[in-house]
Amino acid sequence: MKLKYFGHSAFQLTTDSNIRILIDPFLDDNPVSKIKSSEVEAEFIVFTHGHGDHVGDGLKIGKRCNSLFICVNELAEWVKSKGLKAHNMHIGGAHNFDFGKVKFTIAHHGSSTPDNQYAGEPAGVLLTINNKTIYHTGDTGLFYDMKLIGEMNPVDYMLLPIGDNFTMGIDDAVKAVELTNPKVAIPMHYNTFPVIASDPQKFKQLVEAKSKKCIVMQFGEEIVL
Ligand code: NI
Ligand code: MN
Repeated sequence: MKLKYFGHSAFQLTTDSNIRILIDPFLDDNPVSKIKSSEVEAEFIVFTHGHGDHVGDGLKIGKRCNSLFICVNELAEWVKSKGLKAHNMHIGGAHNFDFGKVKFTIAHHGSSTPDNQYAGEPAGVLLTINNKTIYHTGDTGLFYDMKLIGEMNPVDYMLLPIGDNFTMGIDDAVKAVELTNPKVAIPMHYNTFPVIASDPQKFKQLVEAKSKKCIVMQFGEEIVL
């Protein structure tokens, strides 16, 4: 399985059987993404919440690729109102798809769509594919239940924000890694805009000081999980 990072909170998972899952594909207006929406394809698109920097180019890509959207109920209904396909889920629920299991978690944040529709609760998402669990926290502040999430769903790769202002900053993100106890932490949601400027190498040092592993992915980089 491969994980590609576009910058901000945008990732693509490609399974061994070549199923592509996009998460929060904010590409065309993402100043740090070298890859634009016309260059990506996806069978599945996951939205953590409705904000423009997460929904991004999802609708456009979904229309072109006939993708199935996976998100919380209210946001899924909004996607359907645009004439696209969605699988409605909600926080705490899991479902098995062709590629693996998806489960939504809480996230402490807000959620509305770019056209100002109610989008339900913001969420994080756990994807379990080939016995590996990836936890994309979405936009969130630190919360103690991350400990419970990690206990109930042992996490291999935790993708979490470090940019501060809208989400956790570095210190809270280090605590989030301690609570969740993933095998590897990967920082996101930083350096896209000046207001979320953050130093991922500082985060990495602090995570490693807690005897945990951290990979700082370059914007546009793809790694094998
Ligand atoms: Ni947001
Ligand atoms: Mn955001």
